[in-house]
Amino acid sequence: MARKIASPSSFDFYQNNTNLKWIILVVSVLISIGSIYFTDILVKELKEREGNQVRLFARALEYSINDTENNIVFITEEIINKNNFIPTILTDKKGAIVFSNNIDLDPTWSKSKKDEYLQAELASMKKSFQPIEILLKDPATQKVFDKQYVYYKNSFLLTQLIVYPYIQILVLSIFGFISYLAFNYSRTAEQNQVWVGLTKETAHQLGTPISSLMAWIEVLRDDPDIRNKGIVEELDKDIRKLQMVTERFSSIGSAPTLRSENVYSLVNRVVGYLQPRVSSKINFEVYTLSETIHAMIHPPLFEWVLENLCKNAIDAMGSTGTIAIKILRGNEGKVLIDISDTGKGIPKTILSNVFKPGFTTKKRGWGLGLTLAKRIIELYHQGKIFVKSSEENEGTTFRIELKSSTN
Ligand SMILES: Nc1ncnc2c1ncn2[C@@H]1O[C@H](COP(=O)(O)OP(=O)(O)OP(=O)(O)O)[C@@H](O)[C@H]1O
Ligand SMILES: [Mg+2]
Repeated sequence: MARKIASPSSFDFYQNNTNLKWIILVVSVLISIGSIYFTDILVKELKEREGNQVRLFARALEYSINDTENNIVFITEEIINKNNFIPTILTDKKGAIVFSNNIDLDPTWSKSKKDEYLQAELASMKKSFQPIEILLKDPATQKVFDKQYVYYKNSFLLTQLIVYPYIQILVLSIFGFISYLAFNYSRTAEQNQVWVGLTKETAHQLGTPISSLMAWIEVLRDDPDIRNKGIVEELDKDIRKLQMVTERFSSIGSAPTLRSENVYSLVNRVVGYLQPRVSSKINFEVYTLSETIHAMIHPPLFEWVLENLCKNAIDAMGSTGTIAIKILRGNEGKVLIDISDTGKGIPKTILSNVFKPGFTTKKRGWGLGLTLAKRIIELYHQGKIFVKSSEENEGTTFRIELKSSTN
């Protein structure tokens, strides 16, 4: 009865898992927007302060230029020298540069290079803010006889603050993406280890009782009382089934070698095995245009895939319906096998989950049949398996793509 626990809880797990992804995404976007918003408030405040500072700086310059009595030079120079972070350029009325402040000029540059650099800076300052006017006055009459202009732009600190949240978001996104890949990779590696370990161990554990059973059958065969009752034959069948299971498990645990197989005969073999074991109202049909299509296959594992697909088809159809298997030649030397049923179909909302381990909608399902099929087809056969089409209450078609072989 432990099986019952698996179904609803694993279904919830996939629902929650996708919800969790959305929640994380939405929270990340909100944090990013919040970060940009609050930095923007800081930037505005700092911009205003820098503007005030430059205006003070300009006034101090004006005083120091106009003052002839030297009594306020000390104070104004204090203010002028305090501006050691906002880049400024003072120009005369005609726009010629008088001096610059807080602009990094490499001392090794030639004069013309420095001029060129300053002109470029001036051009960018003109785009940033309106210049502040400085009035030059005649000390005696206090009449304005000339004008100068202070141009400025954001300090390096402010510029950094503006781009900071974007760099932060970029770095965090890269980090998040790499962590996601690393997490996924290690999870896949772990899953692989569990698959291989568990299947090898199962095959190993089954080996001993099977050989022992085979020896017991020989003993029974010699017993005249039992020999004619058909018991030995039945036991023999069961043992062969056990051997097949063991072979499947041990193949999953190792790297199986593929060989060229006739697909039509193989499919017929599986159908021949399944038909007597399912309800007589389940009808199997096998179609092919050529009975000689060959593909590179590991038969025990491939039969397992077909069995799983047919079992799912039967579950979807209930007691009556048709399973049609079509073998076709695809492009680029591919062999296509379509397995269609006339069952209830797969709802679109769960379509992306059906191959995930543990996903099931059945009371007594493990949600492993399609995971196993995908693993066998993609990992061991370098092929593809997917839902080709599915219509609710009409049926589903799974497609397997394999590499064909020459013969
Ligand atoms: N042919 C199909 N028609 C409708 N639904 C299907 C079909 N094949 C698979 N599904 C859906 O995909 C789910 C996962 O299938 P899968 O074979 O992996 O697990 P399961 O059949 O539920 O359990 P298990 O195969 O481990 O016993 C099923 O529970 C079912 O909802
Ligand atoms: Mg199944």
